[in-house]
Amino acid sequence: MLVAIGSDHAGYPYKQPIIDQLMRMGHQVSDFGCHSNEPTDYPVPAIQVSEAVRDRKADLGILICGTGIGMAIAANKVKGIRAGSCQSAFAATAMRTHNQANVLCLGSRVNTLSEVQTFVRLFMTADPDPSPRHRNRIDLIHTYEERGTWEK
Ligand code: RB5
Repeated sequence: MLVAIGSDHAGYPYKQPIIDQLMRMGHQVSDFGCHSNEPTDYPVPAIQVSEAVRDRKADLGILICGTGIGMAIAANKVKGIRAGSCQSAFAATAMRTHNQANVLCLGSRVNTLSEVQTFVRLFMTADPDPSPRHRNRIDLIHTYEERGTWEK
């Protein structure tokens, strides 16, 4: 798969080890920065990575900030993106199997690098559960995204 990756300064120390991990797993990686510890604004890589996934220039996205939360908030503003902030192994799998998440958001201030690399492995290897109940829930989200209202 082709994975788009991005971080802010807080997530920067985890970015290269995750790139190395993805490449060892046989994936290709597009790196959207940042490229140093200098303070940066997380919405920039969040939206750039998400647009790459939306435009099918990448299959999946991975974003790293301090908590994973700011990245997820920004990424979910891009149409078609299902981004989740992940802090546990269970969530790393479930966000693919149940939610068909296409962007994984990680927090360098809440999880160790070793934990985060476990989440990456689980996210990258879990397959979406094809059950109609999960598909229907995702369709409800996308229908709302298209209409911009819950009213019929
Ligand atoms: C940066 O200090 C921090 O706010 C950012 O990395 C992230 O945690 C935001 O959600």
